[in-house]
Amino acid sequence: MALPTLKESLHNFYESHEDNLLRDYPGLTISRLENDFKRFLEKSELSFDPLILNGPNNSLSEKFFSSLKEGIPLEQIINEAYFYKSEFFVDENVLIPRNETEILVEKVVSFIRKIKKENISLIDIGTGSGAIILSILADVLNVKINALATDLSAKALEIAKTNAFRLDFKIADSHQLCFKIGDRLFEIEDKFDIIVSNPPYIKESGDRFKVHERVHSYEPHIALYLKDEEHDEWFNTFFKQVDESLKPQGLFMMEGHEDHLNYLEKNFRELIDVNDYQEIKVVKDYTQRDRFLWALKK
Ligand SMILES: C[S@@+](CC[C@H](N)C(=O)[O-])C[C@H]1O[C@@H](n2cnc3c(N)ncnc32)[C@H](O)[C@@H]1O
Repeated sequence: MALPTLKESLHNFYESHEDNLLRDYPGLTISRLENDFKRFLEKSELSFDPLILNGPNNSLSEKFFSSLKEGIPLEQIINEAYFYKSEFFVDENVLIPRNETEILVEKVVSFIRKIKKENISLIDIGTGSGAIILSILADVLNVKINALATDLSAKALEIAKTNAFRLDFKIADSHQLCFKIGDRLFEIEDKFDIIVSNPPYIKESGDRFKVHERVHSYEPHIALYLKDEEHDEWFNTFFKQVDESLKPQGLFMMEGHEDHLNYLEKNFRELIDVNDYQEIKVVKDYTQRDRFLWALKK
């Protein structure tokens, strides 16, 4: 009897592990798995060996299957995540960019198009893979953007640099992008037209039960959590810095936790002079969950 091909092995694996796979990878379909398996093989120098593609089970597929059994996120297995309009390199040192964050990119890009300025200064705080800032830079062509990507994690910043290098061909030459390691806006004296951030916003204990076990196990805690007792002060300090660093008519847009955004918006209003702002609001995502804080200066 002929041994199964890799495709048959994948189908057999999916069928015999379906319950566990759907527990660890909610909504995972066999076609998504097939696609990611193909990407995984393509990235291996062995993938061009026809014996491996058409032949029986081998160590490459075993490696893929054992990573799946462990529950390692697919994006980390294939070192690739699709976000907005681009593919980003990811590993265990960065948050896997999420679909809902694309709304932040969309809103900022349309803001940039609307204000019709020739030069814009932009900072992304907690850039991680660089998904937000690189997506904005790649999508805006006729405005010159002076951009700064920052992160507290040196390893994350290295990955953002890797992605900037890989996506360079999509980014207009007129844009400028620098990187800086650091905590929030400490040690940054420049002022900005746009401040964006998807900071760590999950309370380490209080919100822990809302976090999927796989996310907790495999994504960097520096990207996810703030200590419960430090949460409010962390944001208060950040908001004061934002207020000081935002130019007139400048926009601050931050992703946050759906359960805390209204509270954070209230704190933001108390910390700044509301008369300096045209608009301060919580923006919902497409499933009507509170998702972003939006503050626009006069
Ligand atoms: C939720 S992740 C967001 C990553 C990326 N911007 C995205 O949207 O996919 C938060 C990021 O903030 C970084 N970070 C954590 N604490 C920070 C701090 N105090 N100052 C700056 N960055 C910080 C983490 O290293 C992580 O890369």
